[in-house]
Amino acid sequence: MKGINTVLIILFLFSYQINAQETKLTKEERLEWFKDAKLGIFIHWGYYGVKGIGESWSMYHKRISYEDYMLQGKEFTAENYKPDEWAKLFKKVGARYAVLTTKHHDGVALWDTKFSKLNVREKTPAKKDLVQPYVTALRNEGLKVGLYYSLCDWSHPDYEVVFPRPDTRKNYPQKNQKFLSPWQRFIKFNNNQLKELSTNFNPDLYWFDGDWEKSSEQWRAESLKDSLLAWNPKVIVNSRLKTHGDYSTPEQGIPVVRPEGAWEFCMTMNDNWGYYPTDTNYKPISQIVRTFVEVIASGGNLLLNIGPKPDGTIAEEQVERLEALGEWIKKYETAVFNSKAGLPYGHFYGPTLLSKDETKIYLCLFDAPKNYISLKGIQNKVKSIKVLGNNQTLNFERNGGAAWNNIPGILRIEIPNQKNLDKYVTIIEVELQDELKLYRGHGNAVELNQ
Ligand code: GLC
Repeated sequence: MKGINTVLIILFLFSYQINAQETKLTKEERLEWFKDAKLGIFIHWGYYGVKGIGESWSMYHKRISYEDYMLQGKEFTAENYKPDEWAKLFKKVGARYAVLTTKHHDGVALWDTKFSKLNVREKTPAKKDLVQPYVTALRNEGLKVGLYYSLCDWSHPDYEVVFPRPDTRKNYPQKNQKFLSPWQRFIKFNNNQLKELSTNFNPDLYWFDGDWEKSSEQWRAESLKDSLLAWNPKVIVNSRLKTHGDYSTPEQGIPVVRPEGAWEFCMTMNDNWGYYPTDTNYKPISQIVRTFVEVIASGGNLLLNIGPKPDGTIAEEQVERLEALGEWIKKYETAVFNSKAGLPYGHFYGPTLLSKDETKIYLCLFDAPKNYISLKGIQNKVKSIKVLGNNQTLNFERNGGAAWNNIPGILRIEIPNQKNLDKYVTIIEVELQDELKLYRGHGNAVELNQ
């Protein structure tokens, strides 16, 4: 009897495991919305905006003492924090998601965490959880919710740092942890906070940072990823969980070669992530629009950063840039959202996009073209070519090549009227008769001439 019971239990556990595996979403399924998102807004909001200094790093580089850095909390008021307006603005701009620094390397939590007293409810005049209203506001606008979480915590007493720091243990109450090593305590702490974030906010995306300070084994990266998926089966994770991320995260320097797989490029508008009023080195709108175009033309998303002020308002220069990008996106909405990565190098001098069904090629002009626009290596017959945004149709002519030998030659396209060129980036739509067929050859003799 006992034997039969044991067999039954084993069979039950086995079938349970098979079921669990069947229902588990694949990485591709979890990444589905992300691959089409195109634009996200990164939000670096924290104490550092009070003095207008570097986020967390100013402490690391000993430009400010730990004590003075933390004193900034006294002026972190969030008094004009209107997450609904943030979310409406992001939506209007065309973003599909946002990522908020719930805890940067400095260890200050923007939510009301049970696991450390270093949180904005206990330490700042804001006196409340700031993450919940952000999550609600984004969800109300149909935007996906991203939470940034620094794996390293430069305030945690069990996490070693390279700058002088007073005893911080009172901020990190630890009960019944006598038998754990300092590192085990730290990992348990991170795990607790992440479980708290997952259960309270059910994020769509985790944006980890700071993984470079330790190894994958030290972070227990693999089991952390398993836990995140167990708490929230749909969540996606950026690449800063050592090798356990779902998509890659190049930063500040736009990739020159297309990254493989899903990816997202994050970039500041000036030279700093947080609010830094003396940093006026803002990128011109033209550069932001071009960057966006280059990123989506290579199949990525742009995660464009803003650094709200300690009171929760967004600096004018940043709003202006978001709105200008938004206007551009609105004008070219069809091309932006109905597309995927464009042609490989060699066909057109500039970025391109391809409609999802591959019957349209979108040529992106950064500069005013001269003489004619040329497009090479397209085997298909072309139906029509027009300038998006004003519908000017453009004449075109196929020149050269040897179609009977499958060598397509070039398409010489008339240039748009000056007045139809966009001040940032103009998009030309090339409509094909059928699904794109590319010529990728390097040329050969035309063996049979007409
Ligand atoms: C870097 C910086 C960090 C910033 C992040 C955003 O990792 O260390 O301060 O938040 O980039 O991508």
